[in-house]
Amino acid sequence: MLTHPVAKGPLPDRFRALWDEITPIGRDEDSGGYLRYALTEPELRLREWFRQQADARGLPVTEDGNGNLFAWWGHRDAGNAVLTGSHFDSVPHGGAYDGPLGIVSAFLAIDELRAADVTPDRPVVVAAFVEEEGARFGVPCLGSRLLTGALDVGRAAALRDPHGVSFAEALGDRPTGAVPELLGRLGSFVELHVEQGRVLVDRDAPVAVASAIWPHGRWRFDFTGEGNHAGTTRMADRRDPMLTYAFTVLAANKEARLRDAHATVGRVAVEPNATNAIPSRVTGWLDARAAEPETLTGLVEAVHGKVTERARRDGTVVTMTEESVTPLVAFDGGLAGRLAGLLAVPVLPTGAGHDAGVLAAHVPTAMLFVRNPTGVSHSPAESATDIDCAAGVTALATVLEELACR
Ligand code: GLV
Ligand code: MN
Ligand code: MN
Repeated sequence: MLTHPVAKGPLPDRFRALWDEITPIGRDEDSGGYLRYALTEPELRLREWFRQQADARGLPVTEDGNGNLFAWWGHRDAGNAVLTGSHFDSVPHGGAYDGPLGIVSAFLAIDELRAADVTPDRPVVVAAFVEEEGARFGVPCLGSRLLTGALDVGRAAALRDPHGVSFAEALGDRPTGAVPELLGRLGSFVELHVEQGRVLVDRDAPVAVASAIWPHGRWRFDFTGEGNHAGTTRMADRRDPMLTYAFTVLAANKEARLRDAHATVGRVAVEPNATNAIPSRVTGWLDARAAEPETLTGLVEAVHGKVTERARRDGTVVTMTEESVTPLVAFDGGLAGRLAGLLAVPVLPTGAGHDAGVLAAHVPTAMLFVRNPTGVSHSPAESATDIDCAAGVTALATVLEELACR
C-alpha cells in the first residue's frame, strides 16, 4: 500500500498542507474568488491534481464518459461501494470551499482510515463530479444527472457556454449518459460540503448531517421589445424590455417573501447593452426555491402570470423557459439518523443543490456539512477554519468506516 507523504502530523496541519496545493488554482486576484468553470483550464488542473492525489495513494482512477472522475480504494468488482466526494467547479467568483472541500476531505479521510489500519470490506470511491454549479453550461449537477440518466444525452451534449462551446466539445466527446453498471456497484454516497448558512454557528457545532434539500429550479425569462434611441424616443412610444425585466425582479422578490420561499435574479444579459440605447432584448434567469414543491410551483406561476400581464402594458413580449428543476430531496432518514447518532451532530435541511440530491434517487445518500463562520457562500467570503475542516475529515472517516466495514 502506498502512503501519502502528508499522512503525519496534526490533522488541521495536514488539511492546510493539502488545501494549499489547490488554493491558487483559478483564484481571481481582484475579487479573491474563484473562476473554476467546468472543463476550463483551472478545473482541468484540479482534475489533474485529483489524478495525482489518487496516484499517490495507489487508487486507480476511472471515468464514466460524462466528465465525472472516480478514484477507487478497493476492487471495483466488490460491489456495494461507498462513494464520497463532490465537485471542483465554482460559481463565478465563488468561494474556495463549495465543492473542493468534499474532495480534499475524502482523500484525507482515506489517509485517516489507512493510518488506523482500517481495511474496508467494500470499496471506498472518491468522486469529482463535473459542472455541479451549472455556471458554464446552465444546468446544475450536469455530471450526476447524466450518470443517473436524469438528463437527456442529446440535450446535455448541445448545451452551450456563453462563448458558443458545446458541452460535447468541451468534454471532447458526446457524453455517455446513464451508466447503470457503475450505479449498480454503489451501496451508498456521502458528500461532505461546507455549510451555506449560519445554522452551525448558531448551534455551536462544527459538523452536521443533512436531512433534505429544498425543491428548486432555474427559469429563463426572455423579454423582447424595440431597440431605439435613448434621447429621441418619447417615453410613451417606447417598448422597453428592461422595464418588464425590472418588474420581474421585484415580483419574484415579493412572491417569494409572501411564501417564505427564496427567489433570486442573479444573472442578466442585455442587448445591445449600450448606455444610450433602449434595449431590444433582455434575458434574466430566475433561481427559485421553497420548502415544499407546491410552494415552488405557486411562486413560479404567480411570477409568470404577473410578468405576462406587465409585458402587455409595456408593449413587450416575454417567454419563460424552464432550464432545470430539482424535486424535493428527502435524504434516507434511517441513514441520516444513524450517522447523526454515530457522530452526535445536528441534522438540518438546506436550500442548496448538490450532486447528492441527484444520486439520492438511486442510492442511499447522506451529506455532512462543515461549519462556515461567515455563513456566506457563492462568494469569496465563504470560509471554514482548518480545525473545523479537520473535524469534517474525522467525521467523514468515521462514516466511511461505518458504511464500508459494518
Ligand atoms: C448549488 O450550489 C446551488 O444550490 O445552486
Ligand atoms: Mn454551490
Ligand atoms: Mn457545492
